[in-house]
Amino acid sequence: MATIVGGVATTHVPAIGKAIADKKFNDPYWKPFFKGFDYVHYWLARAKPDVAVVFYNDHGLNFFLDKLPTFAVGAANEYRSEDEGWGIPVSRTVPGDAALSWHVINALVVDEFDVTMCQEMLIDHAVTIPMTLMWPDQTWPVKIVPVEINTVQHPLPSLSRCLKLGRTIGRAIESYPQDLRVMVVGTGGLSHQLDGARAGFINKEFDQLCMDKIVAEPDALTRYSIHELVELSGAQGVEFLNWMAMRGAMTGQVSELHRNYHIPISNTAAATVVYDNQREGQRKAA
Ligand code: DHB
Ligand code: FE
Repeated sequence: MATIVGGVATTHVPAIGKAIADKKFNDPYWKPFFKGFDYVHYWLARAKPDVAVVFYNDHGLNFFLDKLPTFAVGAANEYRSEDEGWGIPVSRTVPGDAALSWHVINALVVDEFDVTMCQEMLIDHAVTIPMTLMWPDQTWPVKIVPVEINTVQHPLPSLSRCLKLGRTIGRAIESYPQDLRVMVVGTGGLSHQLDGARAGFINKEFDQLCMDKIVAEPDALTRYSIHELVELSGAQGVEFLNWMAMRGAMTGQVSELHRNYHIPISNTAAATVVYDNQREGQRKAA
């Protein structure tokens, strides 16, 4: 059976792609952020995931405002990226696990999540930046299942809905007959707002609260409506919905192994976390 070995959540600011291309790992501006990935690399080397289920939001590369699903799941054997105009290198193609995608899609529809199924889907910086941060040499030792959540055009799905979406996906993965080691990834956030009167808005206190609560009490965060979330985390800080879905997918005993929080990277409060997910059987065996 497939096992969820844990999760990584990270900011996906496009400027990171340029900094990686320019090898700015020790540059004073970038170092406090990149240092946060030393532990991620250590954890990945031990966790050895075969597949990454990536919860992210598209920013107009694959979906635009004219046709925008609330939830979309990729079901392809490879995912291409394209130039989004940020001046960052276009990443290489990422392999997909279409069979696992279809298993997840089936479980979602059974649980009344009527998702858009994408046998072709371009992935944007919200997938490629986290992938490049986790594997800077772009070897991509995992296949991905991309799960796209609308954080762009209102009405957005609620925190509660995203948590439930993740829970269905977590149960689906654990019922998958193949012995796969699956990690979950949540991308974006934390607080940021890119435009409008509050451009540059960051809320350290709320970010800390979100990172504290999401570990053992994710349901406590569902008390915030989407409009409260926009107010507290910024218009783009709602990318935290991706983190909630990722958290929902970890159905075991979750603990925080690592946290790095640094203000700012570009306009964003940059956060990187690693979560452990222990299943019941593993705890007993330990
Ligand atoms: C920035 C942050 C984002 O989440 C994004 O998608 C694009 C840009 C930024 O802070 O520059
Ligand atoms: Fe974003």
